[in-house]
Amino acid sequence: MTKLREIPESIKEWERVSAHSHITGLGLHGIKAKPVADGMVGQTEAREAAGLVVKLIKEGKFGGRAVLIVGPPGTGKTALAQAIARELGKDVPFVHLAASEIFSTDIRKTEFLTQTLRKAIGARIHEIRKVYEGVVKELEIEKAPHPYNPYQQIPVSAKIKIATKDESKKLSMDQSFAIQILQQGIENGDVVQIDPEIGRIVKLGKSEESLKEKSYDLTSEKVVPVPKGEVLKEKEFVYPVTLHSLDLAFARRAESDIFNLFFGGRESKEIDAEIRQQVDEYIKNLVEEGKCELLPGVIFIDEVSMLDIETFAFLNRAMEQELSPIMIFATNRGMTTVRGTDIVSPHGIPLDLLDRLLIINTKPYSREEIKEILKIRAEKEKIKLEDEALEYLTDIGERTSLRHAIQLMAPAYEVAKENKREKIAKEDLVFVEERFVDVKRSVEYMKSIEERFLK
Ligand SMILES: Nc1ncnc2c1ncn2[C@@H]1O[C@H](COP(=O)(O)OP(=O)(O)O)[C@@H](O)[C@H]1O
Ligand SMILES: [Mg+2]
Repeated sequence: MTKLREIPESIKEWERVSAHSHITGLGLHGIKAKPVADGMVGQTEAREAAGLVVKLIKEGKFGGRAVLIVGPPGTGKTALAQAIARELGKDVPFVHLAASEIFSTDIRKTEFLTQTLRKAIGARIHEIRKVYEGVVKELEIEKAPHPYNPYQQIPVSAKIKIATKDESKKLSMDQSFAIQILQQGIENGDVVQIDPEIGRIVKLGKSEESLKEKSYDLTSEKVVPVPKGEVLKEKEFVYPVTLHSLDLAFARRAESDIFNLFFGGRESKEIDAEIRQQVDEYIKNLVEEGKCELLPGVIFIDEVSMLDIETFAFLNRAMEQELSPIMIFATNRGMTTVRGTDIVSPHGIPLDLLDRLLIINTKPYSREEIKEILKIRAEKEKIKLEDEALEYLTDIGERTSLRHAIQLMAPAYEVAKENKREKIAKEDLVFVEERFVDVKRSVEYMKSIEERFLK
């Protein structure tokens, strides 16, 4: 059977992030940058500045401020913002936004911005739940004929005996559990966890002892130790969420009302202020009870010179709020007009916001640095290059841009495979270079055409 699926929003996010998947941090030692570390190469001053920003954020001394990264295209502005988010820790959200997106959405601008800000505020909710955990000792699934199809047997209930190192318990379970057991192929020797309240059983893996008895295919099975202590125990679960994901969940719940029953629900992309208040209230209570930590994340706005005066005002206000994500802006523009006004201002940013900014410059890379970054990217994408090809690709990076050189790697690898090669050779690069142009060349091409036709 084929299934129709929508491509979730998160894929778009992933595609953007994936170009920087080699970056795991700022690569610092104390406040100094190591030449090559955490996937980062060169750009020493910028990385050290970013390190100080992380320090300020972690010490809670960054409130009311923001970062602006200024530098030519392909000098690692996005990479640097990404690295800052990584340094802030696990589950800290990173939201990447191109300024132009604000003008292309079909919801109100302020709603879009509010949603974006709330996507960038994470929370880790801790919950203590009672679960049964142990290794399966006995398992019996009771089956009965299907009510409409007597030739088919369906599971109706299950009896299971699970044990820890110290005790064992027999449980009888209803049909929904029996189905889950069959679906997951749970059998004797598996370590399982049963949550009676939400009605779920999950297989955690094969127990170590069962492995000694039988020989399993180790590549496909995770091996876990047999739990100790009581079978029924309290365990802490941690769910990372964002304020926006909670907004959506609360909105969905509120919609399952009478309106929904009669009219089939409304497709609204905007979230009521009331719902957001409920979410804030809910989170506040959890925090007070010690069941939740808030994790303000990073919102990265690229091409910031494209934002208009209203948006700047909105962001300025947001920065002053109690709970605000860290804002990092980037641009490659110098003096330009602030959109929506006729004021010319540095980077197209109004003065009141400029006053709040710590500005970091990124500089063009040296040949050696370009080569090093290309090597790291190749390794990450599992692409191999001959030495001569790497030199040639570095030439391309120097001549055009780092980003263009990185882009050419994947198609060149396809060409290499087509030529029955395991490593990219120089001629594979020449082949793709003639077929994919860099931005500068493509602009020149259009200019030459226009000149020819407009005369
Ligand atoms: N200093 C660096 N170390 C490692 N990789 C880098 C570095 N600078 C840039 N890159 C990588 O080079 C590519 C282009 O950089 P990017 O951050 O998109 O530049 P910008 O945002 O300034 O246009 C990305 O894949 C990025 O991860
Ligand atoms: Mg960028």
